[in-house]
Amino acid sequence: MSEPVQTPLTKTATFPTRIFSGIQPSGGLTLGNYLGALKRFVEKQDEGIETVYCLVDMHAITVFQDPVKLRHQTREAAAGFIAAGIDPTRSILFNQSQVTAHAELGWIFNCIARMGWMSRMTQFKDKAGKNSENVSLGLFAYPSLMAADILAYKATHVPVGEDQKQHLELCRDIAIKFNNDYKVDFFPVVEPVIEGAATRVMSLRDGTAKMSKSDPSDQSRINLTDDADTISKKIRKAKTDMDPLPDHIDGLKDRPEAKNLVNIYAALAGHTPAQVIADYAGAQFGTFKPALADLAVAKLEPITTEMNRLMKDPAEIDRILGAGAVRADALARPVLEQVYDIIGMIRSRPV
Ligand code: AMP
Ligand code: TRP
Repeated sequence: MSEPVQTPLTKTATFPTRIFSGIQPSGGLTLGNYLGALKRFVEKQDEGIETVYCLVDMHAITVFQDPVKLRHQTREAAAGFIAAGIDPTRSILFNQSQVTAHAELGWIFNCIARMGWMSRMTQFKDKAGKNSENVSLGLFAYPSLMAADILAYKATHVPVGEDQKQHLELCRDIAIKFNNDYKVDFFPVVEPVIEGAATRVMSLRDGTAKMSKSDPSDQSRINLTDDADTISKKIRKAKTDMDPLPDHIDGLKDRPEAKNLVNIYAALAGHTPAQVIADYAGAQFGTFKPALADLAVAKLEPITTEMNRLMKDPAEIDRILGAGAVRADALARPVLEQVYDIIGMIRSRPV
């Protein structure tokens, strides 16, 4: 069985390759997070690239989070990362609020980014909806904190799902404007890494909406905490049309639900969607869904089991995050001190 071809990363001329990415602990991890982000994070780590991964708790509070749940979800997300294959000795794994350079650089970037840039962000428009007068100022400024996350490490490559593309373009704009305003070649212009068969996993109830931890319907998503039975049931009940699978990938056009299930199968199996279609041409969903359910259970159950085991020792998870934060701080602090120097701040506290 062949793996889909991975595009080698393009090197940014003067900056060494470093990967940064983040996930919000604003709910449990979903299959969308796993296939669109986490699985890629593990691959990059295993390719031997320097990888920094962050649970962005400061981003999570842009919408209200219950403190008890937030702490639990942050630990659970950390357990999910480790269970999925992130090795905290090879990657740096930490939660954002423990490294204050993010918030400090985020403020500086609030003064670089323009109101007009922020107003064009589709994620803000979607989240704010008709309620834009009543959402937090933090939700509006969200992308400049995200740029700070990345640029505090001078990261060159950022693996994310499709929905983050616009935020990464804004990160590039911030880096370019900072470099131009201060006449320096300080920040790299980052490359989004959006690859694989499942860069946008859709809801199981609606093939035109993204699978999301914030969807009110639990049936719309697979959570990394779901047990085998729940995963199977959700896949068997997933919305589809009545037609059999086509014999060519083009036949999935205008069939969003069918396309989504094929993409999920492909990403879980490490195949291309075309290979899946070749194997299941003409199959009814009555055949395809149980095969997909079995595959999903086989791939996800070991992760869930390991996550549950790790969650029995929250103090150990906190220790791992703290140790990661110390390593992250050692990278980000000197960058931030250089930024303060570039922009003309006095730094004269006795050490
Ligand atoms: P979030 O849960 O919004 O913090 O997203 C964390 C990471 O998971 C980002 O890289 C997202 O692009 C990715 N992601 C979230 N939902 C999906 C989805 N439905 N399909 C693919 N990637 C996703
Ligand atoms: N905005 C991202 C999301 O919701 C999470 C995130 C925050 C992130 N900071 C980041 C992703 C830096 C990549 C790099 O999915």
